[in-house]
Amino acid sequence: MKFTILNGSPKGAESVTMQYILYIKKKHPEHEYNIINIAQAIKKIENDEKRFDDIILQVKESDGVVWGFPLYVMLVCSQYKRFIELIFERNAESAFENKYTIVLSTSIHFYDHTAHNYMHSICDDLKMKYVGNYPADSWDLLYPKRRARWLIFAEEFINHIENNFPTSRHYTPLIRREFKYTPSKVIDNSKKINTNGKNILVVSDETSENTNLGNMLKRFKDSFSSEIEIININKIDIKGGCISCLQCGYDHKCSYIGKDGFIDFWEDVVMTSDILIFAGVIKDRYLSAKWKMALDRAFYMTHTPTLIGKQMGYIISGPLSQIPNLTEMFQGHIELQGSNLVDIITDEFGTSEEIDALIQDFARRLVTFSNTDYIKPLTFLGEGGRKIFRDDIYGRNRFVFMADHEYYEKHGYYDTFPQNDERAKKLNEKLIPLIKIDKIRNKMNMKQEFLRPFRKVLEDPIK
Ligand SMILES: Cc1cc2nc3c(=O)[nH]c(=O)nc-3n(C[C@H](O)[C@H](O)[C@H](O)COP(=O)(O)O)c2cc1C
Repeated sequence: MKFTILNGSPKGAESVTMQYILYIKKKHPEHEYNIINIAQAIKKIENDEKRFDDIILQVKESDGVVWGFPLYVMLVCSQYKRFIELIFERNAESAFENKYTIVLSTSIHFYDHTAHNYMHSICDDLKMKYVGNYPADSWDLLYPKRRARWLIFAEEFINHIENNFPTSRHYTPLIRREFKYTPSKVIDNSKKINTNGKNILVVSDETSENTNLGNMLKRFKDSFSSEIEIININKIDIKGGCISCLQCGYDHKCSYIGKDGFIDFWEDVVMTSDILIFAGVIKDRYLSAKWKMALDRAFYMTHTPTLIGKQMGYIISGPLSQIPNLTEMFQGHIELQGSNLVDIITDEFGTSEEIDALIQDFARRLVTFSNTDYIKPLTFLGEGGRKIFRDDIYGRNRFVFMADHEYYEKHGYYDTFPQNDERAKKLNEKLIPLIKIDKIRNKMNMKQEFLRPFRKVLEDPIK
């Protein structure tokens, strides 16, 4: 049997993820394994059509396709994303149709589910026969039981192909609404929002006023009584995607420093804003690869937030409501940054007048919340993500991410370990022996016990 492995690691052959493939090759040498370094060679693949066509031919001639990649900022890396875009742009979908496929990732399990949801939906869009996904921890292969588990999964893939077993579909194709947004030409000056000295920045991958997004940004800009800045990300000097050299782990210094303008843009423009809007056009089931490149490159600060305390939001053109996975990434990213997601405005619903009103009120809320430094409580997306980072940086990955460790120590991240919670410790010391006594436990009204501390707040005239 012939397998094509589309390697989504910018490290190429030095990829951890590819070791999982080599392990299957070791166990099943009777098959042919053709590993293609997609992410590492993306520029050449994009610029040399023959090279792209060769890859597509290899996919066509294989019995099974493996999408194998490292997690990069909740998704695949920008280089791999670009390859996926090229498949659709160059009408190469038919090579993938009806091919049996699996998706393998390695990561620390931070938002690996969003990357897998994305890849599953892409496989469905390509009409592939999706057998399943394998979200490995980076080091799983080093443990005998976990190796055995991976082998079971891979053998089931082979079994599936050999027997031509059926596969299920989970995603329906996206439907884009045919709608031209036309912003109102006259905006009542008295309704314009006073920016109150706040620095407002929009970063977008589309600014042309021939597009819905460009017009939505214009309307957003016109909502304020003074100028705000709109930057097109395509005009920023970004030489390439993150290459995972991990030099930044030690001191948050990117190996691209001096080679392009991204770090200056991020630090001098993005980080200095009070109100920050990310805007984009949906491309397949995410934003553009260019947007992904910027977000990957911002990883030079590794697991340390750079957008703390900002009011943030999204302005999106495209079928976002059909991609809840993407909304989850937007929200999770903002929560992890310690900023506030005010809203996401799209061109999916309503008339131009209704969108005008939404944009205008979006502007109002952004400034109002900025004036009061309002930050919403975290959901599971932020809470869970922070805990994964905290544990990983404190533990097994501290030596790789020394700069995060120093930041986490300085900013009390490790104080949130439950074993350091003195109040909880005392409470448990006092209450656990009592709760073990049947008579006391039976008499105790848990509902009332929970409410006792609230009463103090509600009955106190000052609090
Ligand atoms: C830029 C960058 C972003 C990353 N983002 C994530 C992430 O969002 N979630 C996660 O669990 N791991 C993340 N990682 C860790 C890698 O996914 C992990 O180390 C992976 O095993 C590397 O595989 P590779 O050697 O095949 O490239 C990131 C690593 C880099 C360099």
